[in-house]
Formats: sequence, C-alpha cells, structure tokens
Amino acid sequence: MEQSTAASRPWLLLLCLAVAATGGVLQARAQLDSKGFISVDCGLPGKASYVDGGTKLSYVSDAGFIDDTAGANQNISGQYIRPQLSRRYHDVRSFPDGTRNCYTLRSLVSGRKYLVRAAFLYGDYDGLGRLPVFDLHLGVNYWQTVNVSTPGFEVTAEAIVVVPDDFVQVCLVNTGAGTPFISALELRPLKMKFYPQVNLMQGLVLDVRLNLGPADLTDIVRYPEDPHDRVWIPWADPKEWMEISTTKQVDSEYDDFEVPTAVMQTAVTPLNASMKLEITWDPVPQPHDLSPGYFIIMHFSELQLLPSNALREFDININGVRLSEAIRLVYLGVGVIFNEKPYQDGNYNISIKATANSTLPPILNALELFSIMSMTNFGTDSRDVSAMTTIKTKYHVEKNWMGDPCAPKTMAWEKLMCSYDTGIPPRIRSVNLSSSGLNGDISPSFADLKALQHLDLSNNNLTGTILDTLSQLPLLKILDLSGNQLSGSIPSGILKRIQDGSLNLRYDNNSNLCTNANSCRPAKMKSKLPIYVGAPIVIIVVIVSVALTLFCLLRRKTPGLMKNSVKPQNETRNDGDTSLGLETRRFTYNEIERITNNLQQVLGKGGFGYVYDGFLEDGTQVAVKIRSESSNQGDKEFLAEVQILTRIHHKNLVSLIGFCKDGVHMALVYEFMSEGTLQDHIEETEMQDA
Ligand SMILES: *[C@@H]1O[C@H](CO)[C@@H](O)[C@H](O)[C@H]1NC(C)=O
Ligand SMILES: *[C@@H]1O[C@H](CO)[C@@H](O)[C@H](O)[C@H]1NC(C)=O
Ligand SMILES: *[C@@H]1O[C@H](CO)[C@@H](O)[C@H](O)[C@H]1NC(C)=O
Ligand SMILES: *[C@@H]1O[C@H](CO)[C@@H](O)[C@H](O)[C@H]1NC(C)=O
Ligand SMILES: *[C@@H]1O[C@H](CO)[C@@H](O)[C@H](O)[C@H]1NC(C)=O
Ligand SMILES: *[C@@H]1O[C@H](CO)[C@@H](O)[C@H](O)[C@H]1NC(C)=O
Ligand SMILES: *[C@@H]1O[C@H](CO)[C@@H](O)[C@H](O)[C@H]1NC(C)=O
Ligand SMILES: *[C@@H]1O[C@H](CO)[C@@H](O)[C@H](O)[C@H]1NC(C)=O
Repeated sequence: MEQSTAASRPWLLLLCLAVAATGGVLQARAQLDSKGFISVDCGLPGKASYVDGGTKLSYVSDAGFIDDTAGANQNISGQYIRPQLSRRYHDVRSFPDGTRNCYTLRSLVSGRKYLVRAAFLYGDYDGLGRLPVFDLHLGVNYWQTVNVSTPGFEVTAEAIVVVPDDFVQVCLVNTGAGTPFISALELRPLKMKFYPQVNLMQGLVLDVRLNLGPADLTDIVRYPEDPHDRVWIPWADPKEWMEISTTKQVDSEYDDFEVPTAVMQTAVTPLNASMKLEITWDPVPQPHDLSPGYFIIMHFSELQLLPSNALREFDININGVRLSEAIRLVYLGVGVIFNEKPYQDGNYNISIKATANSTLPPILNALELFSIMSMTNFGTDSRDVSAMTTIKTKYHVEKNWMGDPCAPKTMAWEKLMCSYDTGIPPRIRSVNLSSSGLNGDISPSFADLKALQHLDLSNNNLTGTILDTLSQLPLLKILDLSGNQLSGSIPSGILKRIQDGSLNLRYDNNSNLCTNANSCRPAKMKSKLPIYVGAPIVIIVVIVSVALTLFCLLRRKTPGLMKNSVKPQNETRNDGDTSLGLETRRFTYNEIERITNNLQQVLGKGGFGYVYDGFLEDGTQVAVKIRSESSNQGDKEFLAEVQILTRIHHKNLVSLIGFCKDGVHMALVYEFMSEGTLQDHIEETEMQDA
C-alpha cells in the first residue's frame, strides 16, 4: 500500500504531511554507480544527468532503461513546483500506449537482496487534471496499485526482493483507470542479513518506515546517513507522545538491520507513565490477496542513562497476544523485534506497555511495517528471454514487446505463443513474425529458442542464408521462410530434417535461393561475402553422407568435386574487393569458441589441424581452421599464411575473413565454401605452408 492508501489511517496522515512539507531528500546514479545504486529521473530529456542537492547522488535520465519509443516525456505544471520539491519530480514519463510498459534494471547479482523504489508525482503534467490509478509489477509479479489521489503530493512504492536474475523489470500496467506515469526509479543493494523474511518466493512491500521522535519533523533520514538509502520518515505525536533523544553514538554494531544512528538517537515514550504506546492499522485488501500478511519491525535503544533504582521494562502485545518475555534495554544498545511469520488478521493493534515493576514508560525508536508480495509467478525461461530480447533489438520490433515475453499470460507478447506447464517457467513455442517488415539476415538467436515448434518469418525482407543451426531445434515442425530475399542453398542439417519428415520448410518466393526448382542467380542484395552455392540437392545429400570419408581420404586437388559445387553465375570477385580479406578481422579465442559453438562440428582435417563449421554474429557461415597443438607450424609461418591470404584474392582461393592469435591459440577463419572447394583449400594452403 502506498502512502495515499495509508492516508486513511490517522497516524499515516501525518506522514503524508511530513513528506509534503519537506519534498524529501534523495540520492543515486546510472545503471549501477560505484555503490551499486541505480537512480533514474524518469522524464529527464536525452541522456541528461545531475547531482541531487539532498543526497549528492547522481540521477540519470531513463534512456537505456526503457525502449526509447515507449511513452513520452512531460513536465509537470509549474503550479506544483514548490521550492523544496526534488528535481526528479519536475518531469515524468507517461505511457498512453500499451497495456504494460517496463523499465529494465541491469547488472544486478542474481540471488541478492535489493530495495526497489518508484516515485510518482502527477502535477497535472497532461493538463487534464485526471488522477490515474494503475498497477505496478515487479517482473511478472504484482507489486502494488498506485492511486494518485492528490496532484501535488509524492507517492512512493518500495519493494524489498531477492532477484532471481541479473536484472529486474519494473512494469507500469494500465488497468483502464488512467494513463500510467512515473517520476523516478531507484534501486539499492541490501545486505542479505537485512529483512530475513525476504526470499525468492516472498518479497516485502513497504507500508511505512518511521523515525520516531526527531526534533525536526521535516528531517528525512536517507543516504548518506543510511548507506543503503532507506527513507526514514520523521514522525511524532505531541498529544500523546514525548520525544527523547541523545547525541551519544548508539551502538549499532550488532544490529542486523543497521538502522542509521541518526534514526536510533531519537525515540518516543508515552507522556504519562501509566499509558502505553499503541499502534493500530487496518489491512488493505490487494487485488490478488484480499487478506495480505504483514510484517512489523520495531527498533529499540535505551537513550537515557537510568539511575540504579529506575527500571524500564515493557511488554509487547499484538492483538492481545504477548509477543515475548518482558523487554529491558541496554543503555545505547540496539534491539529489534519482528515477526518471522506474517500476521494475517482483520485488524491490528500493537500495544507496548510498561510492566508492573517498571518505573519508566516504554520507548520506541523506529518502526517499519511491510505487507507481503508474492513472488511465486514464474517468468519465461531465461534463455528464451535473452534470445527474444536479441531478436527484438535486431529487428526493431515495435509491437509493444515489453516485460516478460510469456508472463503473465494475459500480457504475453503479441505474435508469440508460449507453453505453460506447472512448476516450470513458460517456454516460447511459436514465433510468428510474418509480414512484420523484418530486414537483414535471420537472427542466429532463433536457434536458441529451444522449445520452438513453429517459426513463421514469411513475407519479410530477410536476406542472407538460411541458418543450419535452426535444424538443431528439436521440436521445430514448421519453418516458413517464404516471401523473402534469402540466398544460398538449403543447408544440409535442414535437408536432413525435411527428409526424415520432422520439419516442414516453406521457402518459395525467395528468388535468390538455390533449390532444385530454382537455378541460382546472383544475389541482388550485395551480400558482404560472396556465397558459394551448393550443388543441386541430390548431390549435396550425397556429399553430406560421404563427406567425412571424403575429407579423410582426399588429400589432393579434386577438380571433379569442385565442379559439383556451383557458384552463382556471373559472380565476379574483384581482387580489390575491400569488403573481403583486406580488412582482416582479429578474433579472440573466446570468439572462436562462440563462432564454432565450442568446436562442435568438424568439417575436415588438414595437416596442421581440424577445420570446424561455424557462424559469425551476422549468420555468415565460416570454416575455422585451428592449429593443433601437435602441429609444427610455428607462429611465424602462421602469420605468414595470414599475410599471404589477405593479399591474395584469387578466384580459386577462399577468402580469409580473419584470424585468431590469442596466447597459444591460433586459428584462421575462412569464408565457408562447399565441401570440395574447402578441402581443396586446406590442401592448397598447406602446400603453401610447406
Ligand atoms: C521541460 O522543461 C525543460 C526546461 O525546464 C525543457 O528543456 C524541456 O524541453 C521540457 N520538456 C517538455 C517535454 O516540455
Ligand atoms: C483511490 O483513492 C481514492 C481516494 O483515496 C479512493 O476514493 C479510490 O477508491 C481509490 N481507487 C482505487 C482504485 O483504489
Ligand atoms: C497519568 O494519567 C492518569 C489518568 O489519565 C492520571 O491519573 C495520572 O495522574 C497521570 N500521571 C502522570 C504522571 O501524569
Ligand atoms: C488495543 O489493545 C489494547 C489491549 O491490548 C486495548 O486496551 C486497546 O483498546 C486496543 N486499541 C484499539 C484501538 O483497538
Ligand atoms: C517484580 O519484581 C519482583 C521483585 O524483583 C519479582 O518478584 C516479580 O516477579 C516482578 N514482577 C513481574 C511481573 O515481573
Ligand atoms: C502467422 O500469422 C499469419 C497471419 O498473421 C497466419 O496467416 C499464419 O498462418 C501464421 N503462421 C503460423 C505458423 O501459425
Ligand atoms: C521490402 O523492402 C522494399 C524496399 O526496401 C519495400 O518496398 C517492400 O515493401 C519490402 N517488402 C516487405 C515484404 O516488407
Ligand atoms: C508468391 O508470390 C506471388 C506473387 O507475389 C503470390 O501470388 C504467391 O501467393 C506467393 N506465394 C507464397 C507461397 O507466398
């Protein structure tokens, strides 16, 4: 429940006034600053940033945290800009379009505990005077409803969670009650020992965090006094409570919550010793949890040095049930009391009362109240998420693909179908991007969607070759590539899948594709690397079935085999073609491993090592020749080969795309050619080597 819902409770009303009077203090920085903080001023134009006057933390604009096409930046109306109002509230990003719009906070540590805080000030930014109500989700789980009931006041939402991934998404969900907007977003890492109630399945949503009894009721404590930037709201009740304080250092060494000294140095006590401290609240039913559970955390410290005949001793009762043994405090020591299991009741009444023997009234220094946030919804399998994110970025898909691809089910991405099995994360089983204006080549990331059954990329402008890695999708049944500008031949793995009947490939209306029905014509699009088109299908199949044998047996030039590999007609390969070997790329060994999928597929073996099949980032198929450890080709010879190959561009030689010389690892990356030519090449360069 945010502050506005809390406002119905008298003791929280004061809290709102306190916030209004001070405008709050703040903090933060970019996607992780040196403290691991993220501080975003949503609505700030471009890539601007500034240092917050209160906290001296740097706030950045939300560029890079959200799709730049999502929502619009707006300034709040001048009438709501009070002198003390923090700058992050001066502007907002609003989201008139789409059901769900999400921010992604990255570079987190999976399994760590974080505080995530979102802040909202409407300020009539749209000039419509319409106060919206919308939902906040953290990843795929409901967080809370934001009810902006006053145009000029800040509303904040804070969650404490353990993140399952190395990122977390904050989503604003339009529930039909007004346009969602946001002023600021903050993330702070917490120590694992803080808030032990929080785990992967259960987060906490802050109701209130009070610093009791400060002299100055406008003095919000947060960063840097609290190194974790929790916001401690000052609060007192002069009619019933008296403030006590100390300037002495409170000994927080053993405090598992590390409440800042500034908070612990002040406390409240009842005006009249016979009275008690009483805290009551009514639960606020949540859309998904009509009777949410609560956690209360009370922080105590004795601030007065008591004479030997004095005793401060008190009992805590919750709804009439005594919580523990009578409590006594150590001078300037720190004690904390909290429930480990949530309270779930119709209403709540905490009473802190002196025992019969006590000569002094009870004391309370700080108080935190949370409700439970269930984190039990599964997000989509993280490998699928990462592949889809790459695909979305590559093709600039603007289908309001935001948040988790499959979850919650009602907000799954358009054009995707997912499978939802109980107990495991959802998987993507169908991607239909037919007629979606896709340009460029087929993203290799499609081959990472391991649960994919249907892939429809028909009627786009896709160029390049068909990726053989798609044949490694075990469940893929339909692959529709028709109506594109694809070129090259149909790769062998895919042909196998077609032949054994496990895959239905549609590829018509690709005028540059070499199939038995379509003779090969030069690619209209200038592809970066010339593609040596394979032989007619029948011959390729034969070659595939005997390829390994051939590789092992053939050690000489085999012109016959070469004739079988058909090159595009009219293809000209100018020696001066600078898109080829002249700019030779240098690969790291890591890249080599990635390109060859960890040296997965051997194409052949030459005297100086094995040759592996591989794909560059852009899907270009390559042959990677790796110097074996037993090879006696020395570094000098190796580099000589690189030099020769970059200089020579003979039409019978395959082109060198790049090389790797990384520690002991050496490799050459060649343009991929049909098997025979490649074999020739291995022979040929090795003859040069010799
Ligand atoms: C908001 O105000 C700033 C100046 O204070 C201005 O530079 C910016 O363009 C304004 N943004 C919008 C969306 O009007
Ligand atoms: C939002 O708050 C207002 C005023 O507090 C209340 O009347 C209204 O019912 C709330 N709306 C929702 C959807 O909670
Ligand atoms: C405390 O309150 C009781 C009843 O309200 C009153 O009789 C008593 O005198 C008060 N004690 C002090 C110390 O003010
Ligand atoms: C809270 O409980 C105490 C007893 O523990 C009772 O005296 C008091 O009246 C209750 N207050 C409310 C507001 O229910
Ligand atoms: C009060 O103190 C006396 C003497 O120290 C002790 O016997 C008694 O048990 C105490 N009463 C309570 C309620 O703790
Ligand atoms: C993909 O969507 C189009 C219409 O948008 C439809 O005609 C086609 O059948 C779909 N493909 C698959 C594999 O379901
Ligand atoms: C392909 O691109 C051309 C021009 O770049 C455009 O005219 C055509 O509509 C596009 N086709 C599809 C299916 O997107
Ligand atoms: C191929 O293109 C022609 C002409 O644009 C069209 O009539 C036909 O339906 C297309 N075939 C497929 C399978 O998309």
